[in-house]
Amino acid sequence: MCGIYACLGNSDATSKVLAGLKRIEYRGYDSWGIAICNDEIEIEKHVGKISAIEKLSLADSNNAIGHTRWATHGGVTQKNAHPHLAQNGSFALVQNGVLENYQELKKELQKDDYKFQTETDTEVIVALLEKECGKTIDLEKFSRTIKRLAGRNTILVLTKTGEVWVYRQGSPLIIGQGERGDFYFSSDLASMSLDAKKYRVIENQEIIHFDGKNLESFQSKDLTPKQIIFQIMDQQALEIDKGSFAHFMLKEIHEQEESFLKILSKSEELFPKIAEKIELSRNIYVVGAGSASYAAASIVFNLRANRKNVYHVPAYDSADFAAIFNEKDMAIVLSQSGETADTIEAIEQMKTKGVFIVSVVNMPSSTLMNMADIAYPLNVGAEIGVASSKALTGHMLFGMALADYLENKNFSFKKEVEKFSKQLGEWFGNEKIMNDIKKIAQLLSQKNDLYILGRGQLLASALEFALKIKEVSYIHAEGFSAGELKHGVIALIEKETPVICLVNKLTREDMISSAHEVKARGARVIGIATKNEDIFDDFIELPQAEKFANLSSIIVAQLLTYEIALIKNLDPDKPRNLAKSVTVK
Ligand code: F6R
Repeated sequence: MCGIYACLGNSDATSKVLAGLKRIEYRGYDSWGIAICNDEIEIEKHVGKISAIEKLSLADSNNAIGHTRWATHGGVTQKNAHPHLAQNGSFALVQNGVLENYQELKKELQKDDYKFQTETDTEVIVALLEKECGKTIDLEKFSRTIKRLAGRNTILVLTKTGEVWVYRQGSPLIIGQGERGDFYFSSDLASMSLDAKKYRVIENQEIIHFDGKNLESFQSKDLTPKQIIFQIMDQQALEIDKGSFAHFMLKEIHEQEESFLKILSKSEELFPKIAEKIELSRNIYVVGAGSASYAAASIVFNLRANRKNVYHVPAYDSADFAAIFNEKDMAIVLSQSGETADTIEAIEQMKTKGVFIVSVVNMPSSTLMNMADIAYPLNVGAEIGVASSKALTGHMLFGMALADYLENKNFSFKKEVEKFSKQLGEWFGNEKIMNDIKKIAQLLSQKNDLYILGRGQLLASALEFALKIKEVSYIHAEGFSAGELKHGVIALIEKETPVICLVNKLTREDMISSAHEVKARGARVIGIATKNEDIFDDFIELPQAEKFANLSSIIVAQLLTYEIALIKNLDPDKPRNLAKSVTVK
């Protein structure tokens, strides 16, 4: 949450930061701001999305820093937007994270008569740095200040003299090297690929100093210098272009036709290693948050079918499982961004107990990828739409492929995925089916509540279906097991309540009787299956690959919610109150 972008040593720094912030806006779009330094520090900041801005009132500068905010402490106001200026005017600061001891520090600073202007925890860091350093920051004073900050905080400070001080604790920050002796800082790798061809991930507890020309690095613990060695970026993996699609979300939905095979590109190398570990482990935990947690539930379903001792651990609830973590166990951790605070904390907890970690992460060089004993790259390409689409189905497909490998010890599953991908491509091109989806989107856009029933392998799909509808089209949707119906949920059904039934071969019989039960109470039954049934009032046909109905029914959810968002005039790429990378707890 929140994004930082900075450009140093380039005469176009101001416009480069404006463009860079637009690329990381998905990390938070409550407000944004840029600070430059031309003898004095100047700041421009606004409430709302930066994508609408064409021109800044700021002048050009060699050094500029910027921030997009997802509000945590303090409302969405211009005053609370970053960068925050020191009261003595000597520096501007941006932060990504949460200062956990901000109340205690604030009281201490207020006793010294500091008059706070905002409600943010960030201003507390500014005040502390100003108290410690006066008008000139140096390494010792900077390190004394950051040692007092509790929680996951990454800060970047631009001084009046054109120097930059950076400290990473938790929230990610990456340095990029341009081709003209210029440097960049960004919260993610993909956003920098237009400006820099080389990069280096800043490590936790590392301090970086830019003296106006060169970069130097120090370990914050004892201030020993560290080397900065840059790596070449894989530009293709980082491409963030919408192409001919109206929105990133639509593009990323369509990319699923190709992404499933890409996910398997490392399977021959890594599945045998993961399988060996699975065979030797006592318990297996599958961990993720939000959509990645539903993918975890789906993977648990697949591995349990292989008689494995496997548990679904929602990342934010991992403390409830901590008593059973043990060095004989392993975890499979799922994340698109690799930076989700809840998930990182769960993995930190597991690592202290000696649990072996396999990560399945999309963003290269991210924290969770680096924490893993085996890092399986999800490899679906940059996902920019805030609501997860191709990464979520990618994680589910990973689980299906791994379970198949455990059962058969071969890679024949690839052939089935090839066939499914082809069918999916044809399905996207089927005008009738796409029109059916649009018609049902029209119907659902008028509703306030809807329910999605799944069973077996389609239960995780029903839960994810509901999440997609809620977060992108703002309609109250609940997914649950059809088995739950008679135990209470059926009380919610009234005349014309939409009930979406996800059906596959294995669950067909039970689902059809659930459909009858809700229909008898007046529900409008929308069937999503490979075959139409008499009981359905409306029907969306899935690609004929039965085995993959769990994935294709989610693709229907993605298209439906996208269409509903358009009907309701909402931005499907940036739903309200959300941010792509949830780096705070
Ligand atoms: C929902 C969504 C979120 C993420 C969750 C975890 O559409 O995108 O629920 O799935 O915040 O994010 P990652 O996968 O980056 O760990």
